[in-house]
Amino acid sequence: MWGAWALLACAVWGVMGCLQPSVHALPQGQITGLVPQPQHVILVEDAPDGRGFRSDGSLYVAWPASWALPAMSEWLEASGLAWQRVDEGAAEWTWQRTDQDLGPEGYVLDVSQDKVTVTCADEEAAFRAWTTLRQLMPPVCEQGCPTGFTLPAVRVEDHAHLAHRGLLLDCCRHFMEPEFVKTVIDVLALQKMNVLHWHLTEDQGWRLPIEAYPQLTEVGGYRTEADGTVTGGAYTREEILDILDHAAARHVEVIPEIEMPGHCRAALAAYPWLGCTGDSLPVPSNWGVFKDVYCAGNDSTMAFMKAVLDEVCELFPSDIIHIGGDEVPKVRWAECPKCQAKMKRLGLQDEAQLQTAFINEMGAHVAKHGKRIMGWDEILEGGLPEGAVVQSWRGMQGAIEATHLGTDAVVSPTSHCYLDYPLRSTDLAEVYSFQPVPEEAQNQPGQIVGGECNMWTERAPQDQVMAKVLPRATGLAEVLWSGPDVTEAEGAYDGFLTRLDALGLRWGFMDVQPGLEGVPVSLRVAPGRPGEVDVTVEAALRNVGGRVRFEPADGQASERAEEVNVGQSIQVKGRGTIFVDVAVRGRRTGVVEAFPVAGHAAAHQPLDLSYVPSPSYTGGGLQALADGRRGSADFRDGAWQAVQGEDMTCTVDLGKPTSISALETQLYLYQDAWIFMPEAVQWAVSSDGRRFVDLPAQAPWGDALSPDGRQTVVPVRLQDLDVEARYVRMTLFNAGPCPSWHDAATEPSWVFVDELVVESTP
Ligand code: ACM
Ligand code: ZN
Repeated sequence: MWGAWALLACAVWGVMGCLQPSVHALPQGQITGLVPQPQHVILVEDAPDGRGFRSDGSLYVAWPASWALPAMSEWLEASGLAWQRVDEGAAEWTWQRTDQDLGPEGYVLDVSQDKVTVTCADEEAAFRAWTTLRQLMPPVCEQGCPTGFTLPAVRVEDHAHLAHRGLLLDCCRHFMEPEFVKTVIDVLALQKMNVLHWHLTEDQGWRLPIEAYPQLTEVGGYRTEADGTVTGGAYTREEILDILDHAAARHVEVIPEIEMPGHCRAALAAYPWLGCTGDSLPVPSNWGVFKDVYCAGNDSTMAFMKAVLDEVCELFPSDIIHIGGDEVPKVRWAECPKCQAKMKRLGLQDEAQLQTAFINEMGAHVAKHGKRIMGWDEILEGGLPEGAVVQSWRGMQGAIEATHLGTDAVVSPTSHCYLDYPLRSTDLAEVYSFQPVPEEAQNQPGQIVGGECNMWTERAPQDQVMAKVLPRATGLAEVLWSGPDVTEAEGAYDGFLTRLDALGLRWGFMDVQPGLEGVPVSLRVAPGRPGEVDVTVEAALRNVGGRVRFEPADGQASERAEEVNVGQSIQVKGRGTIFVDVAVRGRRTGVVEAFPVAGHAAAHQPLDLSYVPSPSYTGGGLQALADGRRGSADFRDGAWQAVQGEDMTCTVDLGKPTSISALETQLYLYQDAWIFMPEAVQWAVSSDGRRFVDLPAQAPWGDALSPDGRQTVVPVRLQDLDVEARYVRMTLFNAGPCPSWHDAATEPSWVFVDELVVESTP
């Protein structure tokens, strides 16, 4: 079968290479270093031991005079090899230009015993070929291989499936050092990604120097955090030029994103007159979507935006300038005389059309520089701005609509491409399963030209970014470069993981530390002895193990259990936390997973709920409030149960009359996410399950809790009880709609709860 496939490859690729003595195509994964998988990999069978080219430390290389290949030269220099650029006749490695159509960024790479030959049309394709050749070299060469190396005897015929293969890096929520940005570019280039979408302006920080408006960085580049510390930073023009050079050498296009008309609080802090109200506002230190946006009716604001774009177009060589356009509340525009006057003047029906007019004006301005704009899919809402590329993030619909309207689209839906999301919602397998070109977008006047992973950094300062980007972005790199013939073939994901392991070795030598491929462990909580639960931490990924320990909460009587291994069980009595020190292939990763748990009298006893939990927040099912696992500091951890706009009553049957010493639950407060305290918590007990006696109601939080909107877990505890009962009932009275000061005023509020803990005396 593989032989037949190779013959077909010869037919497709014409005369080149079909003079090979004897070849067969490799099943995916056999050349372990190659990620993304090339379109065709053909092993030269009669090479002794499969061994191809060998260098003893010297290397003679030739490439066309008009090509520079600076990144390859730099790499060879750093490797310690005694290498020289020579004439083609004297070369062991030869890069040669062809007029043949080898596909986008296409190349053919032949490795035989005495030479390496690359054939391609241009320098960009030559760089992709170099990347493949580099991946064929032993990983240790990343740290130097002055005494030489061996390459396998192989023929690679390859080209890109999609043209735009990118990563968005948000350097605003957290500033990223220039050297780190260059490392990210190295990582992208090594997996044949070719776009760095550089998010440079945001509510929480403006990072791009603009000569005409120096306060954008001087004021807008810094914010005061809740603890009083000042954080931030901005790039100098020289640093940006250096990064652009670094990227260009690796054929990575840097697309700057200048957010408008929303996500601009840092700019408003620098120049308050840019907004509708003119109010002086700080650079915010909290996350979210803010009402204050650029005034679309103020001529001075429009002139400012154009002046900024002039400098951006001059500085960045990219043909595309990203202008954001996402998440723009229209409340200020609705109240602003200037915005309303402009709407009237232009005959606009609503504020969505005002946004389109704004973006159109900027698009026309950018077009004067011979460039086009790209914007998030919201830019479609008031009609497609002329010539814009649409980046679809709220699902794929924006991309589908854009292709139907005849424009290009880039896809980065939250479902598969958001690397700020935890592994629990987007793991490597999920990313790898992404289908960037849905059927509805095929054969349309516009095209899906590629995709991006989005690395937003609200919750990821620089030192955490790489572990979020890798290896998930590598999954997307293969999806976009190799395409569905590779990624949807049988066994594709397993083959990918094998090759990824080899790439991981290379990252190790490059001092690049990837994160995990997915959630490493899961928790099984089974009924234990009375008042206890039996907890087992199970491996949820290949090669995962580690140590598990239980730490009781303060004041809990439970004895400290000894440590066990992943896979072994622990008896848990009382409240506390299971900590898992995660290891991969026996080596500690530094990742510590924490699971709040509780062994108590109600654990695994039957519950009766008056409500249907939200399908998004079931907490694991109808028994979630008595499953022994408690909600953590993350309201999306899968343990919390929630409903919106309703009272919640939960009754547990303890199975027999029980001496109750304390009742406890915990609530989640996160006003920005519409999660409020209930008005009160009412406990009641009963001996027969029909007549209940109320215990004192609790509402100890008042109005003062979390005035800054941050996330908090609020324990609610009724202790020093001395009651005997078989049934316990907990009622949470919903506090009603979000209050008038809230962005979502009048919308029903959420209540999040977990778990119903009953402490008993023997
Ligand atoms: C986005 O995630 N707001 C584009
Ligand atoms: Zn206005």
